[in-house]
Amino acid sequence: MTEEAAHHDHEWVRRPAAAAQGTNCTAEQYEAMYARSLEDSDGFWLEQAERLDWIEKPTRAGDWSFDPVAIEWFADGKLNICHNAVDRHVAAGHGNRVALIFEPDDPAGAVRRITYAELQAEVIRMAGTLKKMGVARGDRVTIYMPMVPEGAFAMLACARIGAVHSVIFGGFSPEAIAGRIEDCASDWVICADEGWRGGKTIPLKANVDAALAKVPVKAVLVVRHTGGAVAMTEGRDHWYDEVSQGVPSECPCEPMAAEDPLFILYTSGSTGKPKGVLHTTGGYAVWTETTFRYVFDYRPGEVFWCTADIGWVTGHSYVVYGPLQNGATALMFEGVPNWPGHDRFWATVAKHKVNIFYTAPTAIRALMREGAEPVEKHDLSSLRLLGTVGEPINPEAWRWYETTVGKGHLPIVDTWWQTETGGVMITTLPGAHDMKPGSAGKPFFGVVPQLVESDGAVLEGAASGNLCIVRSWPGQARTVYGDHDRFVQTYFSTYTGKYFTGDGCRRDADGYYWITGRVDDVINVSGHRMGTAEVESALVLHDKVAEAAVVGFPHDIKGQGIYCYVTLMEGEEPSDALTAELRQQVRTEIGPIASPDHLHFTASLPKTRSGKIMRRILRKIAENELGSMGDTSTLADPSVVDTLIEGRLNR
Ligand code: WTA
Repeated sequence: MTEEAAHHDHEWVRRPAAAAQGTNCTAEQYEAMYARSLEDSDGFWLEQAERLDWIEKPTRAGDWSFDPVAIEWFADGKLNICHNAVDRHVAAGHGNRVALIFEPDDPAGAVRRITYAELQAEVIRMAGTLKKMGVARGDRVTIYMPMVPEGAFAMLACARIGAVHSVIFGGFSPEAIAGRIEDCASDWVICADEGWRGGKTIPLKANVDAALAKVPVKAVLVVRHTGGAVAMTEGRDHWYDEVSQGVPSECPCEPMAAEDPLFILYTSGSTGKPKGVLHTTGGYAVWTETTFRYVFDYRPGEVFWCTADIGWVTGHSYVVYGPLQNGATALMFEGVPNWPGHDRFWATVAKHKVNIFYTAPTAIRALMREGAEPVEKHDLSSLRLLGTVGEPINPEAWRWYETTVGKGHLPIVDTWWQTETGGVMITTLPGAHDMKPGSAGKPFFGVVPQLVESDGAVLEGAASGNLCIVRSWPGQARTVYGDHDRFVQTYFSTYTGKYFTGDGCRRDADGYYWITGRVDDVINVSGHRMGTAEVESALVLHDKVAEAAVVGFPHDIKGQGIYCYVTLMEGEEPSDALTAELRQQVRTEIGPIASPDHLHFTASLPKTRSGKIMRRILRKIAENELGSMGDTSTLADPSVVDTLIEGRLNR
């Protein structure tokens, strides 16, 4: 452990007294519930599951093994998550409660407030339209939407009829869309004409058209949003407002087995193409309902704002399924934090009297740079709880969030979790735990983290190691769509019998967990997960590129930036034009979010005698840690290192 890291271990921030008032979990309750969640896992989870409506109540909870890998939860139960997120609240007399508040990109644009009764009608209309188009239970439906309520309607409509949604973030390219449509053999796409972001339009339908030139589908449902002109292919493309005319005003929720698939979400790993992580119905429903309830300590009537896009897992679990299953009011924001001004988040909090605000460290760091003035301009007195997710938060940014946004009296939950975990895994609970800036905190109910050394030795007490989870939890991903072997290989083969997260982590003497970042070839750029292998594949597609190696480096705002080492074909020379072409190449293959920060042309890469690239060295150079290169004696040609260092300094 470095001295600097350990230095933060004793920096306690007391949970505000107000956080304990009316909370649904005190410190004593946490201890008792956590203990029971392990000792009587079935009893505990069946009890949590009671808050949901089941068509058939489950009689058992977890039934799982990590070796061989087979995971089931609530397997003999039947339910529909759309019913739980929508219909049951209307049936309980809460139809007039606001489910979604839509804040458009343009602050002068029309706000929409959609009640649970209206949400039900909208979801039924969308579900009926999907059926009319021929979508059936079990079909995969691709959703490529801006952050507008219709994105949530589309997800819920799929869940209602038992179709499996695969949401693709609007920042992905046609190439990436095509790959994902092909991987899960999806015959249906729901998109908007265009999206808005910071006053500019995003050509969503045009991107879909370009993707469909490579992989045909049966039909595309197009939601009119900006009104921009788009091409419509006769017989394949349908305007939602037209095709939805006259669909029945009823569409029953399909009874789903707890282990029926709910959605696929593609995420990056250290090798190959993105994986289609598969979540099923019952466990995910219970996990998102329970984590939302306890982590955000949601109280009826409050406005909850998670700034994540529905294209990421955070948007799935904490814009849509978690809040709505709890009957909460969730804000959906189409825009960006810094447009039209750096106060957009704070203006929006004040405008809608947001009580709970959940965002990413990268946004906090970017806004921190603008100083306190944009924050102080607005009345943030509605705020009661703050949260972060997506990457480690540096204590300095945590302090700013706590002091400048929270005025020193709000609890902050730093929630660690992953696409594969379905919902929050490690966090403090607002009424139960004191906080430590930079530490995620304690395991949620049922979560048993373990720190493991490279050789598999389990570390006890205060220690640093690779973070594994040794027991299944209801929200755990069940497989990689169509490739269970890859699921087993990726998560359960590094340490047999354990789920390996890919993250490094430190546990301090108080049992608090400090995530130190990925230990594999995944980088986290502005909270977006990216496989370095994906960026490399994109670069080598260019015919002037012989080889590429991509690593992350610390970036003040983004957390990590993308540093690409590129070797050109014999006879080719680096130039500004080539640099621009390579950047474009990556944007075309993956999307703007993967755009390289640095391209470092080099005649050769550091390789071992057996031809393996030594990434450790490339990382050090990218990080500018030139004094600690470690052992370079196994390199085929150690002089490469000096050349690379020189190349970096002259960059
Ligand atoms: C990182 C996002 C530190 C981590 C929900 C993880 C975090 C990856 C935190 C998953 C946090 C997420 N502190 N690191 N609070 N939350 N991470 O799948 O490296 O997009 O493995 O899920 O983000 O990213 P994903």
